[in-house]
Amino acid sequence: MKVGILGSGPVARALGSGFHARGHEVVFGTRDPAKLDDWLAAHPGGRAAGLAEAAGHGELVVLAVKGSTAAEALRGADAGRTLAGTTVIDTTNPISDTPPVGGVLGYFTGPNESLMERLQAEFPEVRFVKAFNSVGNQAMVDPAFEGGPPTMFVCGDDARAKAEVTGVLDDFGWETEDMGPVEAARAIEPLCVLWCLPGLLHGRWDHAFKLVRAAS
Ligand SMILES: NC(=O)c1ccc[n+]([C@@H]2O[C@H](COP(=O)([O-])OP(=O)(O)OC[C@H]3O[C@@H](n4cnc5c(N)ncnc54)[C@H](OP(=O)(O)O)[C@@H]3O)[C@@H](O)[C@H]2O)c1
Repeated sequence: MKVGILGSGPVARALGSGFHARGHEVVFGTRDPAKLDDWLAAHPGGRAAGLAEAAGHGELVVLAVKGSTAAEALRGADAGRTLAGTTVIDTTNPISDTPPVGGVLGYFTGPNESLMERLQAEFPEVRFVKAFNSVGNQAMVDPAFEGGPPTMFVCGDDARAKAEVTGVLDDFGWETEDMGPVEAARAIEPLCVLWCLPGLLHGRWDHAFKLVRAAS
């Protein structure tokens, strides 16, 4: 599969490595392709290009940029044209530039909205699926935790796109819990705040979420 990854940071690299290891053709989209020279040297066959080229390359696309610049990056990728009908895994969180308070990250969105809803409203033809935003990049691929595979909460309006992303999550070693339409991002995006708390307060980043059900 051809995978486009918008971003050059830790999430872009971690997911890029996961796709590359599984034989997919990865092209990163960034304003500065040289940022990925080290990754490309270690992963033959991958490529770095501009945002629109990477978006156009992807049969599946990952959005992995700083949350406050997600819309700008999609505009830079000419998403209305290059990503119409394409499934986009939205890994972003709307983290504000204000410092955490008591270990709690600030968000630039309010409780009755979400970043993914804003992106879906601006780019209605794109099939966004929220995923991978509630765990650290080190555990995104082949997560190894006590108690078996952790749970990735996903949401989005397009059922086929969610099925596609569920396939990726299966392949990467996750259980998937579909929480519903795009509005469910109001609940899924704040999971990042909870996930980061033990890290920001106690330096512990070695956990993931798992949904358990009552014994029948
Ligand atoms: N780090 C984690 O473990 C983790 C875990 C879960 C979710 N997330 C979320 O995943 C996303 C990516 O996180 P990250 O830690 O990998 O990277 P990051 O440091 O949050 O963001 C770096 C990326 O943002 C892009 N960017 C910054 N300003 C931009 C602009 N004006 N226009 C276009 N792109 C711009 C950069 O693009 P260039 O390449 O062009 O410089 C770079 O690719 C974030 O939304 C984050 O909240 C992070």
